[in-house]
Amino acid sequence: MLKNLPMQCIDINSPYCPCLLSETNHCTFCSHLKGEATCDCNWSGVCILYEKQWQKNKWDNDNDIDTPLRLEAETKFSRKEQISKDTYLLAMEVNSDFAQSLEKSGSFVFLRRPTDQQFYHFPVGVMKVTGNIIHVVVETIGPKSTRLLADNNNQVLVRGPYYNGIFGQPWIDNIDNGKILLIVGGIGQAPAISIARQLVKKNNNITAIVAPGKIGHIFIAEELTELGVSVQEVASMRQAGMRYLSASLANTQECPELIISAGPDDQHYGIIAAMHTAGVNIPMAATNNTTMCCGEGICGSCQKVTKDNKRVRTCKVQTDFRHFIQE
Ligand code: FES
Repeated sequence: MLKNLPMQCIDINSPYCPCLLSETNHCTFCSHLKGEATCDCNWSGVCILYEKQWQKNKWDNDNDIDTPLRLEAETKFSRKEQISKDTYLLAMEVNSDFAQSLEKSGSFVFLRRPTDQQFYHFPVGVMKVTGNIIHVVVETIGPKSTRLLADNNNQVLVRGPYYNGIFGQPWIDNIDNGKILLIVGGIGQAPAISIARQLVKKNNNITAIVAPGKIGHIFIAEELTELGVSVQEVASMRQAGMRYLSASLANTQECPELIISAGPDDQHYGIIAAMHTAGVNIPMAATNNTTMCCGEGICGSCQKVTKDNKRVRTCKVQTDFRHFIQE
């Protein structure tokens, strides 16, 4: 399996490339579309500069913008179930194109009330898509998420698709018949379902360690088991979960080929420390927990600094979580 991931934009090869960043010479990938004179890209099978020229002609014909916009759907909740004190499982129907665009793991959407201004929207990872229904889990702990569900509101505006919800996504996309350890804490349970659904399709053998985390409740154990995942529920990830992980890493027969951490950054760092202690270096995918406002690489709220001192906008840039400086 590929151990080193080159930095890559998640939107390359998607309908959303070239994006708004190419308009202002801030493309994360193409040196020409960063304003440089020479071509210096890590060829990904597509020339973004060529696409930009082609797209301009295409969009100029019928639109006054040069980049494709994300989809938006005004809909209402078909399911709203309280899981714990501030945690809700929500389902909403969109059209089939929109729903299908969100089936891949790492997908997320922005939600807000249709009548609210745009700055109320907030990102939510997609848990799964069934037919035309999107399922998500929301914690109502900030003003935006609290507002969405206040006064028994049922109306929602969904914007998407966005794709960079997991660092190390290519490892998840490319592994088959592999041995995978999925480590899940708290709200990370929602993306863990979409990750497991994708991995079982390629005959991977998955063991999951699941802890309730801050939300205080495990709500995916049954669904993971139905998918064929071997589930180990633990009361605390810091203690029992990390002990289980350390034992797996120490045993060469049990050692996984890929670790996926779905949960808070503290959990990601705990796993990195455990791998370091055990002297193993295997790929680790990790959920992206950065604060996002625009999702388009524009606002800078999701920026993180890498160990080689690059500032990357994590709503767009795909890389190994271990490249980031610990904050
Ligand atoms: S969320 Fe705005 S730049 Fe990433």
